[in-house]
Amino acid sequence: MRTDYCGNIDSSYIGQEVTLCGWVNKRRDLGGVIFIDLRDREGIVQVVFDPDLPDVLDIANTLRSEFCVKLTGKVRGRPEGQVNKDMRTGEIEILGTGLEVINKSAVLPLDWNQENSEEQRLRYRYLDLRRPVMSQRLQFRAKVTAAVRRYLEEDGFLDIETPILTKATPEGARDYLVPSRTHKGEFFALPQSPQLFKQLLMMSGMDRYYQIVKCFRDEDLRADRQPEFTQIDLETTFLDADGVMQITEGMIRNLFKTMLDVDLGDFPRMTYEEAMRRFGSDKPDLRNPLELVDVADLLKDVDFKVFSGPANDEKGRVAVIRVPGGASLSRKQIDEYTKFVGIYGAKGLAWVKVNETSAGQDGLQSPILKFLSADITDALLERTSAQDGDILLFGADNATVVTEAMGALRLKLGEDFELLQGEWKPLWVVDFPMFEEVDGNLYALHHPFTSPRNLSAEELKANPVGALSDAYDMVLNGVELGGGSVRIHDQAMQSAVFTILGINEEEAENKFGFLLEALKFGAPPHAGLAFGLDRLVMLMTGASSIRDVMAFPKTTTAACPLTDAPSPANPQQLEELAIATVKKSAE
Ligand code: AMO
Ligand code: AMP
Repeated sequence: MRTDYCGNIDSSYIGQEVTLCGWVNKRRDLGGVIFIDLRDREGIVQVVFDPDLPDVLDIANTLRSEFCVKLTGKVRGRPEGQVNKDMRTGEIEILGTGLEVINKSAVLPLDWNQENSEEQRLRYRYLDLRRPVMSQRLQFRAKVTAAVRRYLEEDGFLDIETPILTKATPEGARDYLVPSRTHKGEFFALPQSPQLFKQLLMMSGMDRYYQIVKCFRDEDLRADRQPEFTQIDLETTFLDADGVMQITEGMIRNLFKTMLDVDLGDFPRMTYEEAMRRFGSDKPDLRNPLELVDVADLLKDVDFKVFSGPANDEKGRVAVIRVPGGASLSRKQIDEYTKFVGIYGAKGLAWVKVNETSAGQDGLQSPILKFLSADITDALLERTSAQDGDILLFGADNATVVTEAMGALRLKLGEDFELLQGEWKPLWVVDFPMFEEVDGNLYALHHPFTSPRNLSAEELKANPVGALSDAYDMVLNGVELGGGSVRIHDQAMQSAVFTILGINEEEAENKFGFLLEALKFGAPPHAGLAFGLDRLVMLMTGASSIRDVMAFPKTTTAACPLTDAPSPANPQQLEELAIATVKKSAE
């Protein structure tokens, strides 16, 4: 139907006749001469209809926004003064000589000149995707996917599909269940990841597997979480953690270079312990220069229980964030930050304003100054490298609360004080603990197939809490882009981990019997990783949510306003599935 894309017409076409198809982006009537901006996937081109061709002008007169049209015309240079250097098509315009309205459009339910509600955008997603910014993001995503495939295939990775109707895979979220008609009362689970299948593929000898694959997790949604999302999932045999990190770091570096012309350089590595201590997060945003500084040792003997309590408690922590220029904060602003850390369980946010370091305690201002001797304030200023005009903000509590609250506060302060430096700050976080303890129970920090670092099954059982895992996360600008690990390939070790997690033999057999069995038949050492493709594209395109880089995402309540899913099933279907639903009483 057409000779070219609208967005591709540039000055090299001058003098040629072209036929284009697209949508009317804008129509302007300048008293007898009509201008339209015609839009397709590749961009926008200006078309002029003048009175010399009255038949065509008559049709142009009927055009309205979003009509779908076919246009024939001659490309010519724009008159002096009307050239727009910022657009690929900005030096030319097309004199329309033929025009056909393929389909009219009703007035759009979205107004592109203003912010539309996300509900409305998702309800009419196909129209929302006509916006150039959205179209460009999806095109960018397609290019990223293609580049990932090229990179991995060149490195010997095989694209192998794994089942969507399967058994529960423990990645820490709730499962989406699918009832079976042929096995009444039984359910498939949609995979939270292809974790177990990719391990089995290594046991099959496939050596290197990858898949760009949908994963399903029924969890609380946020800007970087969706119930179904896409992983770049991979697994390798006979490679250790370093081997996997090299391949995947190389892939991300290559993507940034080819897609954005950005050189990410070598990614630094940081232990989990250091990340939590200095940044209060296992996915630190290294663009933010603020750090948590531990000061418990200085405050053991002060006459202020809020500090001395945690300072003398093995599980306590007292940490300070020094905010450059923060002495200008008002009481009201400090109260707001206190409320903010309260969300994370902090009971307060003690502060010291540093007005003049050379004036000793007279140069400080704080409601808790009466509890601190000059020696202690001197030591605090030195430890935090405080300068005139700073504020010191204190968190004191059990270590978990302090780390989480001060970690979140660090991010908020970084934004509020506009402190972020540099555009891209990638890193690896390594040496995660194998397990985390919550209310006396142990949980796998990654998943239960992750291998401990340099420990036998006996040593692991003897001291599970102190054990480190052979896991690694790639973090970029404070976002966990991907995570992976060396896997357990030894049945005794796998059983030991299940035991530590409180999964008894029967349960292990029910849930993962097939894996334990597969480990008996010459299972090779293997290791892998999975990236969140949506998060990667979100960061690369500067989008603020992964929803903006997915064609048809769900709302934050995991629904689709476009198709109205989920929706009630018809009674006959339910009967076939032997399922009865219970109406929830009004809350
Ligand atoms: P993990 O659970 O860390 O590891 O997931 C890997 C990556 O997937 C992305 N991701 C998500 N993206 C959007 N919405 C979600 N709900 C969501 N959940 C996770 C993140 C994350 O880093 N099987 C292991 C990988 C392995 O060990 O090889 C796994 O799934 O970017
Ligand atoms: P109070 O003794 O409760 O009046 O608190 C004195 C100061 O200590 C206030 O600025 C509180 O915000 C702060 N504060 C109270 N509890 C904590 C805590 N757990 N961590 C840090 N600061 C706190």
